[in-house]
Amino acid sequence: MCGIIGYLGKGCAQESLIDGLRRLEYRGYDSAGVAFHEGKSFSMARETGRVKNLATSVQKNSSSSSLGIAHTRWATHGAVTVSNTHPHVSNDGKFVMVHNGVIENFNTLKKFLIGKGFEFSSETDSEVLCNLIAYNYSELEPSEDRFIDAIRMALPQCRGAYGIAVLCLDFPDTMVGARRGSPLVVGLGEDANFIASDASAFVGRAKEAVFLNDGELAVLQGSEFRITTLEGHEAKAVSQPVDQISEEVELGDFGSYMEKEIYEQPSALKNTLRGRFGDDGTTAKLSGLEGHEEELRNLDRIIFVACGTARHACMVGEYLIERLARVPVEVEHASEFRYRNSPKAGKSLVIAVSQSGETLDTLEAVREAKTKGLLTLGITNVVGSSLARETDGGVYQRVGPEIGVASTKAFSSQACLCAMLGLALGRMRELSPMDGQAIVTALKDLPDLVSQVLQQGEQIRELAVKYSKADHLLFLGRQSLYPVALEGALKLKEISYAHAEGYPAAELKHGPIALISPECPSVFVVEGTELSAKTIANMQEVKARKGPVIAIAPQSVEIPEEAADDIFRLPDAHEVIRPILANLPLQLFAYHFALLRGLDVDKPRNLAKSVTVE
Ligand code: M6R
Repeated sequence: MCGIIGYLGKGCAQESLIDGLRRLEYRGYDSAGVAFHEGKSFSMARETGRVKNLATSVQKNSSSSSLGIAHTRWATHGAVTVSNTHPHVSNDGKFVMVHNGVIENFNTLKKFLIGKGFEFSSETDSEVLCNLIAYNYSELEPSEDRFIDAIRMALPQCRGAYGIAVLCLDFPDTMVGARRGSPLVVGLGEDANFIASDASAFVGRAKEAVFLNDGELAVLQGSEFRITTLEGHEAKAVSQPVDQISEEVELGDFGSYMEKEIYEQPSALKNTLRGRFGDDGTTAKLSGLEGHEEELRNLDRIIFVACGTARHACMVGEYLIERLARVPVEVEHASEFRYRNSPKAGKSLVIAVSQSGETLDTLEAVREAKTKGLLTLGITNVVGSSLARETDGGVYQRVGPEIGVASTKAFSSQACLCAMLGLALGRMRELSPMDGQAIVTALKDLPDLVSQVLQQGEQIRELAVKYSKADHLLFLGRQSLYPVALEGALKLKEISYAHAEGYPAAELKHGPIALISPECPSVFVVEGTELSAKTIANMQEVKARKGPVIAIAPQSVEIPEEAADDIFRLPDAHEVIRPILANLPLQLFAYHFALLRGLDVDKPRNLAKSVTVE
């Protein structure tokens, strides 16, 4: 949700900043801007729309400055206009700032500043913070720390979340960053150092990355840097090699990141699974759980917290873990868990699942769980993310950067890790070695089966062609395929803007059946269990009301001709991997459906890749 990149070095900042913005664009793409320190003034460019608009405008008036900050915006306060685009400049022209997050008390601060004679040209909370820094600066005597001290004074006055990068006209070799709630990372290169919201912004330009913790400040001065607390105490700077954090995010021959990420699922899943089975071949070995065996063996309850697609993966986990490990599982919207104050029932484990590891609602749910003294584990894709750092233990998804806003390979790996967790917990509790062995075999087969399904992509494209005029669709499934139905509906609506709803198949008769008509297709994901007959009966109910039916079903499930208009076949597979396989045609269906409507599948309207505001 918004991307920040700042450059301080020996060379020219412009190219690194624009390149960094391109890499960050998936975080928000309403507008973009850049500011350069030109010695006696700042030069700026701001454009609405994509980073390419900004790049064109910067090329026309290029800058040779070696100090600059840039931002790509996902609008929170105020419409998508140039004046609301970052960077923002203080009234006295001394400060420029870029900001991610939301300053909740910005109205109070704005009134205070207006009382002091400040004027505002945007509707943003960010311009308020920039001027608050300028106001505090004006109250301080000149000193070598005046810039940093002004920031240290301003930030405690703010309620809410921020990740900021700031420049001051009086300090031509200094850039300051600070974070609370919104991620910020320092990149250390040979000829330049960086501040960014995400290490992918400086891949190929910085060698080491230092992640800031909440309440910390990064001061980059010349070629030096230091991390301090807001109070001014030195903080520990732990660096990690950048190449271990962010891999290349090039598109290659694919037309979109979504397509690339769908088709790289076989290799992505191989990475998720690699080296994670016990030597006896009956269990999963997740090193992030090591040291917690006793607590895991004696669990009374698991609570998953997550948002969006990640929550659907958790729901798959709910069915699998309860079945394999016989532990009660609940799945909560992270935003609801955070405020719900659920009673502490016995020994509960909270598992937070987040591709980015930066989703604010999920992080706040973890913080709430920790306040209650609960053990917390994280499943995330991003190494060094806030979730990875704030949980007691956890597991990385290892599927490489996911750039497309619509989550695809992340879902598959999260569902896969949930199955592995179910296996590991099951084997610690009641699951037999034989059952464990069958699950290990199934999981090892998963990447090849995923390949097989993806090879039938053309068939799905044809289905999308047939149904792409529909404006309303239902997705239905039972048990662990119910979350797959939810995910299929979410994927379709977020990138094609068609209205889609997911339901447990049996719920159809309790209301949604009223929507059935020849114009409203229903997509059924069929289990391949003793429940399949019931799902097929639901399909017939839809057909009886002239609703078109698409069935996604395992090879061996017999479907009467009159029950479905179209059938897409999946390989027969073990129950633990069925949800992952059944979800693949739905990913492809949404992808082709949106393309046929001429839409940008990677950057759907109103969305951003990672939601770091409440
Ligand atoms: O980074 P996270 O996994 O925490 O993100 C959670 C959701 O925002 C995300 O899955 C969202 O629902 C996707 N756009 C779905 O495709």
